[in-house]
Amino acid sequence: MKWYLGIADIHAGSSHGPIPPEYLAPEMRMSDKPAQWADSVVDVFNEGRRAARDFWGELDTLAARLPEIDAAFVLSDNIEGRQAKSGGEGLIHNNSQSQVKIAVRILDHILKGAGYPPVYGVRGTGYHVTENGGRECDDEVYDQTKNMQAYDDVLFVEAGGLVWRLDHNIGRSGTPYGKSTPLSKVQIFNTLKSSIDEEHEANVCLHGHVHYCVSSGFPMSNKIGYTLPALKMRGESYGRKFNDFYDAGMMLFRQEDDGEPVVPVPLRIETGHSLPPLHKLGE
Ligand SMILES: [Fe+2]
Ligand SMILES: [Fe+2]
Repeated sequence: MKWYLGIADIHAGSSHGPIPPEYLAPEMRMSDKPAQWADSVVDVFNEGRRAARDFWGELDTLAARLPEIDAAFVLSDNIEGRQAKSGGEGLIHNNSQSQVKIAVRILDHILKGAGYPPVYGVRGTGYHVTENGGRECDDEVYDQTKNMQAYDDVLFVEAGGLVWRLDHNIGRSGTPYGKSTPLSKVQIFNTLKSSIDEEHEANVCLHGHVHYCVSSGFPMSNKIGYTLPALKMRGESYGRKFNDFYDAGMMLFRQEDDGEPVVPVPLRIETGHSLPPLHKLGE
C-alpha cells in the first residue's frame, strides 16, 4: 500500500494561516481597567490568538497521526504576500522574507510527521507569492524544503504507476463554489495535449487556489481531478463568503497497488463553525 499527501494554500504570514507557536504573541492581559473599549479590544485580540493556537494544535495532531507518506505534493500559495490591496491588516508579518521562513517551518513540521517523503511542488498565485521585480517566494520556500525533488508552474510526477499533474490554478466555473466542469476540462485538454506530446497523460490532477475540495473524473479511464482543501482557516471576508463550502485541512490519498486508482482520505480541521443567531421580530 502507498500513501500520498496533498498540501495546499498555507498562506504563511496571514493571521488566518497556521502560525507556529514561536510566532504567536502571548495573550494580553489588562490589570486595571483604563476604559471599557480598551478591554474589549484586548478581548478581540486574545480571541484571535486562541483561535490561531487551536488551529495550530489541530494541524499538529494531524501531522502526528500521518502514516509514512510515499510522496507529498505541495500546491502552493505557500505565503500570503503583502496584501497590498487591503493594506495588510490581516497579516502577522508583512515582510515576505519572514513569510518564507514561516512557510518553510510549517512545511517542515508537516513533512516531519509524514516521515520526510520526496516532495514535489508548484508555484501559486502571483499576487500572493511574488514581489514586484519578479522575486519568486515559492522558489525560496522549495529550495529550503527537505527532500524537495522538483517544482515548476505545472509539474508532472510519476508515482505509484500513475501520472500526477500538479497545477495551483483552476479555471472559472458557472457553478458557484464548484469546480467540477473546470476539473473535467483540465482532464480533456490534458488528453488532447498528450496526443501531440505537449503534456504527459495524467491520472490524477491536483489543484489548489479555491480553498475548498471537490473532485471530478472519468473512473473507467483511471482519471480523476481534485481541488484540495486549504491550510488557511475561515474567518476573514475571503473565507466567510464560502461559508459551508470552505474546507480547511489536507488530503491523504491511499493506493492499494501500483497503477490502481487512489482513494481520498480527507484530514479535516474544524475552523470555528457555529450556528448563527436567529433574530425574532418583537424580541
Ligand atoms: Fe489560496
Ligand atoms: Fe491562489
